[in-house]
Amino acid sequence: MRISDLAKPHIRNLEPYQGGKPIEELERELGIRDSIKLASNECPDPPSAAVTRALQAALPRLHRYPDGESYYLRRALARHLGIGTENLFLGAGSDEILEVLVKCFLGPGDEALFPWPSFAMYPIVTQGMGATAVRVPLDAEMRADVAQVARAITDRTRLLFLANPNNPTGTSIGAADFAELLREVPERVIIVNDEAYREYVRRDDFPNTLDAIDGRPTLITLRTFSKIYGLAGLRLGYGVGDPELIGLLERARHPFNVSLLAQVAGCVALEDPERVTRIRRLTHAGLDQLERAFDEIGLSYAKSDANFILVELGPRAAEIHDKLLHAGVITRCMGACGLENHLRVTVGLPEENKRCIEALRRELGR
Ligand SMILES: Cc1ncc(COP(=O)(O)O)c(C=O)c1O
Repeated sequence: MRISDLAKPHIRNLEPYQGGKPIEELERELGIRDSIKLASNECPDPPSAAVTRALQAALPRLHRYPDGESYYLRRALARHLGIGTENLFLGAGSDEILEVLVKCFLGPGDEALFPWPSFAMYPIVTQGMGATAVRVPLDAEMRADVAQVARAITDRTRLLFLANPNNPTGTSIGAADFAELLREVPERVIIVNDEAYREYVRRDDFPNTLDAIDGRPTLITLRTFSKIYGLAGLRLGYGVGDPELIGLLERARHPFNVSLLAQVAGCVALEDPERVTRIRRLTHAGLDQLERAFDEIGLSYAKSDANFILVELGPRAAEIHDKLLHAGVITRCMGACGLENHLRVTVGLPEENKRCIEALRRELGR
């Protein structure tokens, strides 16, 4: 008997999410030091002293369960966003919220639709429920194609995932396209509007999706503390939606899904808007730095509204990725989502971006 034979077939057939090795392990294997990680769209700046102080102060309480309602964080976030606490769902990262959403709305025979390439977790959580993942190709500019998405909806479609800005392309859609999506997608389809990178967006016409929730009870907007707030290691994200939808998610979650430390850090991080502004500026300067270099080297890239950039390297992309790795520059290959000729580079600190550019130049001989 094989244990796998006992599992549900849709779990057995899942391709696990490809995370990287711990950086120390990678360095040991490759015999390198001082490597830089530009692979997971994290914030290059560590948490503020105020956050680490608050975490220190909370450590003696770790023998207690966290507050299952995240009372203080929920109120602070609701105030910050100008919404009611009943509109808010808190989770251990947006990843957990995706899991709770599919648990509520997907089963065998159902379809979840999403533009593709996009965030790797969408097909994983969909297939994990035995539902069918329907991928709708991006348009020629690598943006979500709203008309095509609308056309792909069937009687079986239950969920639509939209990453805006999109990962791994960094591209975004504006308010007009988003309004079209709301018009064209029937209300019975839950729209999961994933704004993990919202705080980095530079376009003026980015949709204000929290305002859209009143008119669309089947819309939920997800955001995270993992990116611009720099708290990826603590796992904290949230969803904003209609109270009835939020109430369903509340039924389906674990009672203590948000850790004590995540609640503490989230509250403190919200009190520091200057840090968000600083990281936003740092990221935009880093994007400009990378774009300028790619222009000089003659590489094409997608115009990014996020904290990473997708650059086209041609058929040598995987090989160049490995060469960069040996030079201590860790980026992300995108072959798994069909972009074999591309690398995704997360914006780092200025000197990290410089090292990445220099390694690329060396490798390409330009
Ligand atoms: C589009 C998108 N959504 C969600 C996530 C996951 O965020 P979290 O750390 O909040 O689970 C990511 C992480 O890379 C992402 O790219």
